[in-house]
This record gives sequence, structure tokens and C-alpha cells, in this order.
Amino acid sequence: MKINGLMALAMIGCVGVLLTGCEAEEGPIQPPPPAPPEYADKHMPAGWWADEKIIAEGKEIFEGVKNIDVNCSSCHGKDGKPVKAGARDFRKTERMKLYPDSVWFWRISEGVPNTKMKAWKSKLPEEDRWKAMAYERTFGLKGMGYDVARQEWVPLAELGKPAPAAGATPVAGDGKAPAAAPAKDGAKKGKGGK
Ligand code: HEC
Repeated sequence: MKINGLMALAMIGCVGVLLTGCEAEEGPIQPPPPAPPEYADKHMPAGWWADEKIIAEGKEIFEGVKNIDVNCSSCHGKDGKPVKAGARDFRKTERMKLYPDSVWFWRISEGVPNTKMKAWKSKLPEEDRWKAMAYERTFGLKGMGYDVARQEWVPLAELGKPAPAAGATPVAGDGKAPAAAPAKDGAKKGKGGK
């Protein structure tokens, strides 16, 4: 009996250690796989990254206020800090900035196979998926938006502008001038969806 009790205690201890180990361990930061073709050209509707009303609506979706069946924060945490093992930490800028908006949208729509992240497209219309994302990015990429032409997250004030000619941002060294930002046609797209 005594041994059983001790063993039980030891086992509880081990489980505790395992759990903490899992929480802390996120593994090395790796870029996500590219979005499949049907999602590759999906982008945040023009103006939404900077739209506080959209972001506020996204918060209500993310926290299950709008629809209790959709509660992203039950796994991802109200502050982006995961509460369920396996969910990534949205506050980690270095990781999150590796995800183009099309990849996030794809994952939210179709889920991630063999994980707790399921497909949300049947519960969330396309616009609501974008709104949830506009909010979700505030944890690690606040004040930034994904620039489709430059293929990177940039401060809101720089969205749709050409990359700075010289200096900080490394542009592909092919000697060509940075492509003119196709901000205009991006502006009309996106909104309509299908
Ligand atoms: C039941 C738990 C759960 C719920 C609810 C949930 N997720 Fe996830 N989500 C996960 C897990 C776990 C992953 C990590 C999957 C993996 O291993 O790549 C994930 C991944 C993601 C990713 C991809 C980034 C990454 O971590 O690789 C995004 C974006 C995302 N979730 C957004 C959402 C949004 C938006 C909602 C609400 C509509 C939501 N999630 C609801 C568990 C959940």
C-alpha cells in the first residue's frame, strides 16, 4: 500500500513535468507551408488592416462573443497566449511574420490536419474569417499589415508603398528596380470574395 501511494505520487510528479515541458517547448521557428492555389491569391480586403471597427468585430468573433460555437480564444487564449497545448503563440512576432495572410486564411478556413485546429469555413463566412485575422494579428503584429506586393509584413503607414529603395529591407538582389506596387488593383479585390 505504501509503495503504491509513493508510486502514485511519483507518477503525478512525472505528468506534471511532462506537461510543463510541453508548454514551454514550441520547437524551432519554421516557415509554414505555402497556401494551396485556391487560397494563394486571397488577401485581406483593402483597408481592413487599419480599420478599428473591423478589428473590434474580429475580437468578438475570436472570443466567441458573436457566436459561442466559434471561440478561437478557448485554445489560442484571449491575449494570444495559447491555453491548449499545440496552439502556437500568436504573440511571437518572429514566427507569425513568416505567415502570409493567405496562409492564415487557408488555415482558418480548412484547419490543420491531425491537430485540434479544425476547418472554420462552414461556421464563419469569408468576411468573418478576415475580421478574426485582423484581430488575431494584433497579438504579435500590432500596427502591421501584410503587403501583398512586397510579400512581407510592414507598418500600416507603408502598406501598398514600394519597398524603400536602399537600406534596411533586403530586396531580391536581381538588380531590378522594385516592382511598382500594384496597390490599386489590390484595392478592389478581396472585398467581394466569391
Ligand atoms: C480546439 C482548439 C482550437 C480552436 C477553437 C481554434 N484553434 Fe487555431 N489552432 C489550434 C492549434 C492546436 C493550432 C496549431 C496547429 C498546428 O500544429 O499547426 C492552430 C493553428 C491556427 C492557425 C495557424 C497558425 C499556426 O499556429 O500554425 C491560425 C491562424 C489559427 N489557428 C486561427 C484560429 C482562429 C481564427 C480560430 C477561431 C475561428 C481558431 N484558430 C480556433 C487550435 C485551435
